[in-house]
Amino acid sequence: MGEETQKSNLVPMAATIVGIRQMTDKEKLFTVRLDNGNGFKHRPCQFVLISMFGIGEAPISISSPPVNSGNTFELCIRSIGNLTGAIHRSSVNDRIGIRGPYGNGFPLEKIEGKDILIIAGGLGLAPIRSLIKHVLNERGRYGRLILLIGAKRPEDILFKEEIAMWEEDHSIEMHVSVDIAAPSWKNHVGVITGLFKYITIDPLNTIAAVVGPPVMYRFVVKELLAKKMFEGNIFLDMERRMRCGIGKCGHCQINGIYLCQNGPVLSYLEARKLQEAL
Ligand SMILES: Cc1cc2nc3c(=O)[nH]c(=O)nc-3n(C[C@H](O)[C@H](O)[C@H](O)COP(=O)(O)OP(=O)(O)OC[C@H]3O[C@@H](n4cnc5c(N)ncnc54)[C@H](O)[C@@H]3O)c2cc1C
Ligand code: FES
Repeated sequence: MGEETQKSNLVPMAATIVGIRQMTDKEKLFTVRLDNGNGFKHRPCQFVLISMFGIGEAPISISSPPVNSGNTFELCIRSIGNLTGAIHRSSVNDRIGIRGPYGNGFPLEKIEGKDILIIAGGLGLAPIRSLIKHVLNERGRYGRLILLIGAKRPEDILFKEEIAMWEEDHSIEMHVSVDIAAPSWKNHVGVITGLFKYITIDPLNTIAAVVGPPVMYRFVVKELLAKKMFEGNIFLDMERRMRCGIGKCGHCQINGIYLCQNGPVLSYLEARKLQEAL
């Protein structure tokens, strides 16, 4: 595969888990290397299909930035079923299959020179971390970086060490909120949309990226439109059930759109035309 996307081949490439980090009680971060030694080139918000022999396959977003060290990439995986449970029971040096990367990914060409407002709820931080780290790696090419991060409880927040570092980074404006917390929690409490009152944006120069549970999208978009953002500058990472990843099985279809290929990232201008999309 090298620097190419594996577009048509349904045969997984052999890969090895080279690192595992427990993130919360439900999520682990896996560092993976392709056994063919090739690099792994992707765009933020693209995904791979990971497989284990005899168990199955599942789409998982790539959590690391486009340029990672040592030809490895990272996948933040929540254990919820057969495949994700089996991956959680794996150890370093275990082998898995990888297809991809697939999907359109985030339109990086549209954010050059712009302010970037990222709204990440729950597991949504996993795919969008790739974009955050990309912007931080190439900080001079972008304007303000504003992060609104939400989770159910403090213990559910992903990438806590990185969030602590981002808090110290004066080039990032960040607000974190949880739905429920003990009195010892020093940050905001409430749903993620409650954070909009702490930010001001220049609507003509801002691109928004929204990633999180489906229920969040309608409310977040409402806040963004209230801030006078243009519908074409709001990008939503729309995940749906997927199987083949290459536009063949129809599992991800909404109206005429195959989200595995035309998505998972759609502008609100495109998404609002699709019935059942939001
Ligand atoms: C483009 C894309 C990117 C994704 N990125 C990530 C990621 O970065 N990290 C991550 O942990 N997960 C991610 N997911 C979700 C992940 O693919 C599913 O959790 C996984 O397919 C479940 O497989 P399983 O075999 O473990 O579960 P199964 O045994 O198939 O199912 C267990 C239970 O989970 C439900 N379920 C299965 N798939 C989904 C789904 N897609 N959405 C909601 N419920 C589901 C089933 O109905 C069942 O109740 C992504 C999904 C998509 C489409
Ligand atoms: S996942 Fe099969 S067509 Fe999109």
